[in-house]
Amino acid sequence: MLRGFFLIFLLIGVAIVAVFGFRGQTSTGSPIEVFPDMVRQMKVRAQAPLAFFADGRGSRPPVAGTVPIGYEMPKANSEASPGAAPVPSEMNVQPHLGFSSGNDYFNTGKMGTNWGTGFPLAVTGDLMERGKQRFNINCAICHGPTAAGNGMTKQYGLATVVTLQDERIRTMADGEIFNTITNGKNTMLAYGPNVSVTDRWAIIAYLRALQRSQNATAADVPPEHRAEMDKPAETKPEAKPEAKPEPPKK
Ligand code: HEC
Repeated sequence: MLRGFFLIFLLIGVAIVAVFGFRGQTSTGSPIEVFPDMVRQMKVRAQAPLAFFADGRGSRPPVAGTVPIGYEMPKANSEASPGAAPVPSEMNVQPHLGFSSGNDYFNTGKMGTNWGTGFPLAVTGDLMERGKQRFNINCAICHGPTAAGNGMTKQYGLATVVTLQDERIRTMADGEIFNTITNGKNTMLAYGPNVSVTDRWAIIAYLRALQRSQNATAADVPPEHRAEMDKPAETKPEAKPEAKPEPPKK
């Protein structure tokens, strides 16, 4: 009885080894696998040739006009050096991908250990246009088109958004605002990874214009236009369609 069991056990063992085990000679082929090993799969190894492409190379250069993640576009000289270098006018066509991380005022908003103020690049018409466009894309959803803190997200419950029109922000150093854009503040997330250094300054320049526009006095109106202010409103109805009703306040 026990002998019979050992005999059958031995025969089954031999059969298993015969099917799955030693083949009698060395082989570079893959062994029989019940569950295929993921080491073997359709893929191109680094530096390996590949007949699929006309030039026979497996590794491909980046597609023309794209920047691989983790790489930076080569910068124009004027952006690398702060000073009062003019911002190239092709800026609107080719977005600036300058996310440099120098220690100077241009890159940090700090002069020594204090927040600096003033613009480390020429404030041109182009820069203001760029700032307007970038503000409306990146900031207006929360802070509102006139920075009054009434952006779209407020209607969806983002209650902590602040107005950028109050005295504290109006008198805040440019460098501190630069830092808020770069690193965020309290409940506002950092926009440094999304907005280039030049664009951050452009946004601040535009924000300053918005602040001025909302806090203007009669003295800010050029003398030759002051007479128009006293005219009754119905003489210029074309100003009306622009005005939209305020979203409901919560
Ligand atoms: C997703 C919404 C959101 C966006 C987009 C946003 N902010 Fe803010 N921002 C906030 C909130 C919320 C606060 C209030 C932070 C706090 O709790 O003090 C704030 C505060 C600020 C402050 C005041 C900081 C201080 O010192 O009190 C400034 C300046 C500012 N934002 C500028 C900007 C600019 C410029 C942009 C565009 C690049 C921008 N924000 C985009 C939500 C946003």
